[in-house]
Amino acid sequence: MSIEAPAPRPADLPPDDELRRLVGLVDHNAAADPFPVLGWDVLVWVVGNATQAAHFLESAFGLRLEAYSGPETGNRDHKAFVLRSGGVRFVVKGAVDPTSPLVTHHDLHGDGVVDIALEVPDVDRCIARARSQGATVLVEPHNETDEFGTVRSAAIATYGETRHTLIDRSRYTGPYLPGYIARSSNYRPRSGDPRRLFQAIDHVVGNVELGRMDHWVEFYRRVMGFENMAEFVGDDIATDYSALMSKVVANGNHRVKFPLNEPARGPKRSQIDEYLEFYRGPGVQHIALATSDILTAVDCLRREGIEFLATPDSYYSDPELRARIGHVRVPVEELRSRGILVDRDEDGYLLQIFCKPITDRPTVFFELIERHGSLGFGKGNFKALFQAIEREQETRGNL
Ligand SMILES: [Fe+2]
Repeated sequence: MSIEAPAPRPADLPPDDELRRLVGLVDHNAAADPFPVLGWDVLVWVVGNATQAAHFLESAFGLRLEAYSGPETGNRDHKAFVLRSGGVRFVVKGAVDPTSPLVTHHDLHGDGVVDIALEVPDVDRCIARARSQGATVLVEPHNETDEFGTVRSAAIATYGETRHTLIDRSRYTGPYLPGYIARSSNYRPRSGDPRRLFQAIDHVVGNVELGRMDHWVEFYRRVMGFENMAEFVGDDIATDYSALMSKVVANGNHRVKFPLNEPARGPKRSQIDEYLEFYRGPGVQHIALATSDILTAVDCLRREGIEFLATPDSYYSDPELRARIGHVRVPVEELRSRGILVDRDEDGYLLQIFCKPITDRPTVFFELIERHGSLGFGKGNFKALFQAIEREQETRGNL
């Protein structure tokens, strides 16, 4: 195989028109973009036990193992499992060597996302732009080559100890990166389950310290040419106890969306304060996974023991809400029985639900989102949602 051959589009990526609907893409002139981004490449997690985390992501969340690196492949530092569901790719890494730098990271932060890697067409151009705008370049542009071709990548720092690897895979056809081998597992999905529960990453949310949200909004605007998409302040997202502020930045076509939260002062500690304390600093709070069938996804996940934030019954009987959401694709009773939230704006509506943290510390969690025209983030649900989170916080003694 020629190393110059372009990588074929993986067969399990959603087609462009489906992706447009799933994650709310908009038209964009990439030629004029100072920092063009093609999309999400991978989310890299550091966890305490990657062997078990990989099994959990397969058995509960329906991802499929497709590549691996570890002692058997010459990597004596850690094990890394590469898993995919449609356009969603996760890598979970866990230390094998007790002196691995992953141990130090995990000691401090617990399980979490360390790298939000983005696919770009021109790594060098992006790094030149990032450097000229004052970003910290953690890894200089370099090539990695094996029999499947060449990957070019570099990395810049973002909030906390999180980074963005910028990667160009256009000349690579291997299973993940040089050093990884193709691998599947013996796990067999239950018969009758859908092929996958979700198809794409919709957005990745960062929690940052009090007073730092605008700094990071400005970072994404200046360094990566992202644009402001939405903001939520004040009463939008305040409960009786606590408050937060949130602004959303997105790349030109909205394929990559980063909401950024900071705590706001309130009578009690906000969920963002709790996160910052237990993650020991800023980091990824939640990952929204776009699904074309949120009802089936919730049923499958719940059957596997995944817990969701409870939505009070009053949410569904509230006449104001009923009037606001109008007609959705399923009877409200179907949503009520699963605790799925609805929000509507001028463009359409969305269905969404939030898992409880999937880690021991009250830090990172998943959202499932099914968009029907709406380009929003569920603003109408924030209050009901935060009250649900506070009930959980109280049971942990952290409110
Ligand atoms: Fe979200």
